[in-house]
Amino acid sequence: MTHTTHRLVLEARAQDLLFRQARTVDRFTDEPVPDETVRAIHDLVRHGPTAFNQQPLRMCLLRSQESRSRLAGHLSRSNREKTLAAPLTVLLAVDNEFHRRLPDQFPQFPGAMDLFSEKRMVRERSALLNGALQAAYFIIGIRAAGLAAGPMSGFDEDGVNREFFPDGKWSALLVVNIGRPAGTGPRPRGPRLAYDEVSTTL
Ligand SMILES: Cc1cc2nc3c(=O)[nH]c(=O)nc-3n(C[C@H](O)[C@H](O)[C@H](O)COP(=O)(O)O)c2cc1C
Repeated sequence: MTHTTHRLVLEARAQDLLFRQARTVDRFTDEPVPDETVRAIHDLVRHGPTAFNQQPLRMCLLRSQESRSRLAGHLSRSNREKTLAAPLTVLLAVDNEFHRRLPDQFPQFPGAMDLFSEKRMVRERSALLNGALQAAYFIIGIRAAGLAAGPMSGFDEDGVNREFFPDGKWSALLVVNIGRPAGTGPRPRGPRLAYDEVSTTL
């Protein structure tokens, strides 16, 4: 136990599962990841906070070999083989029309939708920030399910958008391989910055 562990209310084992022992993984066992598990992960992480409670993140589960091959053509070379071999690949995207749901999602401020209506660039920026937050919650949710994630942004974004989202409503954000890890991973954990390097108190 580190000297900071006991200051957190979450039990140490859960801290390890979600963060300290969790690794990014690119080799998985053959154990399938059923839809029910993805549903349970989503049911947990959909509670993560975003601006105006907007929920731009969308997910496209690539289960068929055909859909996986369509994606592989747009992945950077080093991301291809591991994606074709993963038990499940999820293509995360953002819905650039997310603001249409704001009247339901954030009723305490009826003007929220109007902030985004005529402003595609503002909308896309917001979808990117809040979609990325939701993607991060999703990765932590995968770990909470006892599984591991292999997130990848190494792909041709325009190519993936043309291939999967030709109507322009969704934009690709991140590809995530999911499964039970096989082995200990490719390399030792990379160093993380210390608190004093990243914080200042004014
Ligand atoms: C947004 C994002 C994009 C990433 N893109 C790639 C990628 O294209 N290819 C790859 O092999 N790893 C990719 N990674 C994995 C990171 O290199 C890895 O998560 C990081 O080094 C931490 O590794 P660790 O969890 O084992 O400590 C990505 C991770 C994130 C969160």
